[in-house]
Amino acid sequence: MKILVVGGGGREHAVIKKIKENSAVTEIFALPGNGGIARDATCVGIKATDIDGIAEFAVSNRIDYAIVTPDDPLCLGAVDRLTAEGIPCFGPVAAAAIIEGSKVFAKNLMRKYNIPTAEYEVFESPEDALRYVADCPVPTVIKADGLALGKGVIIANTREEASDAVRTIMEDRKFGKSGDKIVVEEFLTGPEVSVLAFTDGKTVVPMVSSMDHKRALDGDRGPNTGGMGTIAPNPYYTEAVAAECMERIFLPTVDAMNREGRTFKGCLYFGLMITPKGPKVIEYNCRFGDPETQVVLPLLKSDLLGIMMACTNGTLADVPVVFDDKCAACVILASKGYPEKYDKGFPITFPEELSDNIFVAGAALSEGRLVTSGGRVIAVTEVADTLREAVDKAYRDAGLVEFENKYFRRDIGQKALDA
Ligand code: AMP
Ligand code: GLY
Repeated sequence: MKILVVGGGGREHAVIKKIKENSAVTEIFALPGNGGIARDATCVGIKATDIDGIAEFAVSNRIDYAIVTPDDPLCLGAVDRLTAEGIPCFGPVAAAAIIEGSKVFAKNLMRKYNIPTAEYEVFESPEDALRYVADCPVPTVIKADGLALGKGVIIANTREEASDAVRTIMEDRKFGKSGDKIVVEEFLTGPEVSVLAFTDGKTVVPMVSSMDHKRALDGDRGPNTGGMGTIAPNPYYTEAVAAECMERIFLPTVDAMNREGRTFKGCLYFGLMITPKGPKVIEYNCRFGDPETQVVLPLLKSDLLGIMMACTNGTLADVPVVFDDKCAACVILASKGYPEKYDKGFPITFPEELSDNIFVAGAALSEGRLVTSGGRVIAVTEVADTLREAVDKAYRDAGLVEFENKYFRRDIGQKALDA
């Protein structure tokens, strides 16, 4: 089978490595892939947002199955287009991907269907928003409606910060059109849990839970990033919490999307906060998380491609989805300065025996050598019987990968180990 994977980050590398375990797979194309993915797939220089280019490539290369994992192409309708060309595809159609593409949509969906989430107000003009935040309770959370590379959320500790956030998003238009509308929501507290779930629109199968570390610096300080490391399973996601999430959040969400005529098929990501009043939804994503995928998939014992195809075909209830009863830890090796300014083009080296544990995110090939080309460069993942062991091994690996300006957090997994 010829498989096409749209995207080119650490998440896509993890997906590609996993589907390669299926012996029916003969060839994998990554669009655009990256310098590290090139070891495991044929990388083709077509951008993940070039929907026409992707569709033409898929048709002319007689692709048997396509996997779309990044938010942008999903929201742009890559799955709709590939499906229309007769190519079966993993991922939601654009009408369902809106659950991530518009925070206003997601919040209104949760309100309408009684799915637990923070209280909120929606604003379409800066004047109304400024009037509201002038005497709203603080801290408060300001969110740009549309996609903003994970940076469109501002936690304001004072009303002044809240007004600044409104101006930045709606007047200075820091996130462009994504800031046409904003959500101002109640500040919640409690540990965060990421749960990725497979769904075919009927059955929902949650994967092993995980914990992301979104802030750039140790101790959860510094700016928000795409994610600096993950562990799985998440100790705060107890069996009781899992049961409550299934009943009050996961099944109601899939059901709500059906009722709205927006059946969601693919991987639905639940960003949860375990508040004193129970689990609540912080955000939905219409895709695998990055770097959650880099700890979740190494623990998956079942055939990923088979599960994905079952999501497409509506037969998810018939396939096994089994996770190893072990722990995983992933440390992101980033370029110093990420998520703001950083230099690139530095050669990367690591011992060959580490290659199974490495997922490449921001690296390119230059004269046959792997060089840094992005903020998040490499993810190293280890699986072990205990979280302590997985974390220690991942940090040992982190020391073995070398490139100039390498930066990583030193406390990935600490909160989970303390829990
Ligand atoms: P998001 O991009 O929606 O995941 O938000 C980024 C981060 O902001 C989350 O991981 C939370 O740590 C934080 N956050 C978002 N919404 C809230 C909220 N209502 N209360 C407290 N923290 C929040
Ligand atoms: N790691 C968070 C995300 O993928 O959005």
